[in-house]
Amino acid sequence: MTDAHTALTWIGIAVTCAIAASLTARWLARRVVTLRAQALTPLALRHLARWVKRRDLSDEAFYRADGAVPRDIERRRAGIERLGRLFREQHRRSLEWAESIRESFSDLRFTDANRVPFPFARVIRERFNLATVVDASDGPRVRDLDGNWTLDVSGAYGVNVAGYERYKTWMRDGLERVNDLGPALGPLHPVVAENIGILKSISGLDEVSFHMSGTEAVMAAVRLARFNTRRKLIVCFSGAYHGWWDGVQPGLGSERAIDDCLTLKDLDPASLRVIRMRAGEIAGVLVNPVQGFHPNAPPPNDAILLTSEVRKTEDATSRYAAWLSRLRAVCSEAGVPLIFDEVYSGFRLAPGGAQEFFGVCADMVIYGKTVAGGLPIGVVCGTRSLMRRFDPEHPMRMSYVVGTFSAHPVVMGGMNEFLRWVTAPGTAPLYAELNDRCARWVRATNEQLATESLPLRVEHLTTVWTVVFTEPGRYNWLLQYYLRAEGVTLSWVGTGRCLSNMAMTDKDYDALRDKLIAAARAMRADGWWLSRDDYPEREKTMRAQLIKEMIGSLVQVPRPLQSFYREVMQRKQDDHHASHSDVTNQLLHIVSSSVFLICYGYALWDLPTAMWAGMAALFVRQFGHAILEPPCHDKEATLLGYNTRNKTMILGSFLLLPFATVAVAGSWTLEGVRAVAPLIGYQWFGVMAAVVGGRVAYLVFKHGPRLALVWFVKLVTDPITDLIAYSPRYFRPA
Ligand SMILES: Cc1ncc(COP(=O)(O)O)c(C=O)c1O
Repeated sequence: MTDAHTALTWIGIAVTCAIAASLTARWLARRVVTLRAQALTPLALRHLARWVKRRDLSDEAFYRADGAVPRDIERRRAGIERLGRLFREQHRRSLEWAESIRESFSDLRFTDANRVPFPFARVIRERFNLATVVDASDGPRVRDLDGNWTLDVSGAYGVNVAGYERYKTWMRDGLERVNDLGPALGPLHPVVAENIGILKSISGLDEVSFHMSGTEAVMAAVRLARFNTRRKLIVCFSGAYHGWWDGVQPGLGSERAIDDCLTLKDLDPASLRVIRMRAGEIAGVLVNPVQGFHPNAPPPNDAILLTSEVRKTEDATSRYAAWLSRLRAVCSEAGVPLIFDEVYSGFRLAPGGAQEFFGVCADMVIYGKTVAGGLPIGVVCGTRSLMRRFDPEHPMRMSYVVGTFSAHPVVMGGMNEFLRWVTAPGTAPLYAELNDRCARWVRATNEQLATESLPLRVEHLTTVWTVVFTEPGRYNWLLQYYLRAEGVTLSWVGTGRCLSNMAMTDKDYDALRDKLIAAARAMRADGWWLSRDDYPEREKTMRAQLIKEMIGSLVQVPRPLQSFYREVMQRKQDDHHASHSDVTNQLLHIVSSSVFLICYGYALWDLPTAMWAGMAALFVRQFGHAILEPPCHDKEATLLGYNTRNKTMILGSFLLLPFATVAVAGSWTLEGVRAVAPLIGYQWFGVMAAVVGGRVAYLVFKHGPRLALVWFVKLVTDPITDLIAYSPRYFRPA
């Protein structure tokens, strides 16, 4: 009995252990497979965002973030000043208007803060604060408050496919159609039925629901997928944007930790393995098909352009189409709904959106942007089983998705105009022509850019286009301002995402090309792209500088220390401008600085010898100033240190010491001098300490201890900074 009991107990333990082990193994296997497919960049960036502190480049550092020398820095400075003047003159009223609301309009404050990589933002904001304030459109142009007509490639965030004139008509006709009803919400206008019919036929799906924005429609689709599958997890792909809801924002842009949205790598078979393996947990796979243009990269905007490599695109259309059909097959096999977020791609890539363009059907499709003929909208289309908001078996179980303005009569009116246009027989050829024209423009533009050796090119997916940079550069984001100066309106993401529309004629495209080329030429003339010949080390320098900035943003030096450092560096800069421009003088500084640095260390072992070597170096250094580079006393007068004349006199008096000592010793032979040399070294040290100490005391008395310390630190560190500053410049004269 006892033996049987014991045996049973052991069997129980063994079975429990086996179950636990198999569950753990299963969990581990899932983790490993998921980890291989998971996009870690969004997560890493989110964590990093907590640590990266604001760090504004100083005015000086702004211009040399890529290691440029003074010659280029001056051109850059002049370029920025010229742009600032131009914007102030051309957009005076817009600027005044924007200024009057900037502090009260949070949306503007947000977009303003995201135009430029953050270390550069302060300087730009102080030079020109832009705002596009417009009151009319005509063809592809918009008119600002100052009466300037500019070519608009912002695409109204994606709404403008057909050209503003058509939208104006649709909005007006749509409103007229429902005018008699007014804002009667709840009861439906008959036009809704026609819209539903057309949307069903375009999407190939069973049911339709209406919302007020793309974001709201994404929220609705995700909720319905979760409700109807009784699963929690939503899979989306790295870099894809799905609106501002934090439930689908795994990376930057949101702080909330989300455990129900898994971000996988696009175009990666490992992601398909995860979908198969974890099908039982996945409520839906959410795809933004525009992502085929820049797989796994975040939506491109200029604020991320810290280096040229950041923005990548690839002509992945056929690869992406193949990927989508594999994804389709895996989702069908695994019983996981495939959801296309076509808020951007719908009615842009083709009249039938990405489903038509890539030849792949989804179980749910989300539309927005252009589909209401210019009015605010979000639409979800889906299969009957996915669109249910109630559970036929459990009457209390429901997914409460409604909205006051859903199916608003005016929006439905505008939508009807658009849908009838987009399904009319003459529209498909218009799309073909639109896409063809844009493709031709891209080809011709890239040819001209290459002919002129301008370091950029244009990449596109139908009418969605972006500027990519072909040479390393830290200022590529500036192109948005040069383009504005040429009369091009961009959205706040700058050259990252631009859009063409049907109102653009060949003449407009030619004008756009001319403006792009002119902007790039001006940028090159202002010295923002360093040439390989002049800067053979440019990649290395830029990388080092970027790493330095990153570290600087992560490890923050206390503010007082930062400002102290800036002040010391500013004094060095002033000193340089005052009397260190001659190339031979700079070479002598390299020599003397090297000796000083050796002497700093050697003085601990043998002070007199270090003093002799140091004094010799000091004489060489002073020769450079006094003889080679005539002193600029006016400029030097603003410095804290001695001016060249004083320094020469002090050094002259230093020379008297050895003569006096030898005279007192009465030993004028070489042996005699050698005997008193250590004594002379000590004397020099003493006098030097007195001169420096005296100057410090004088500065404390005259300007306070802080400035005295600035002078002292500058003096002691000059050999290091001179070596850094002049070595490359000697071989590559400024
Ligand atoms: C693919 C995609 N989904 C959703 C949205 C959000 O749409 P909305 O701005 O109308 O909320 C956008 C907006 O750009 C989008 O591009």
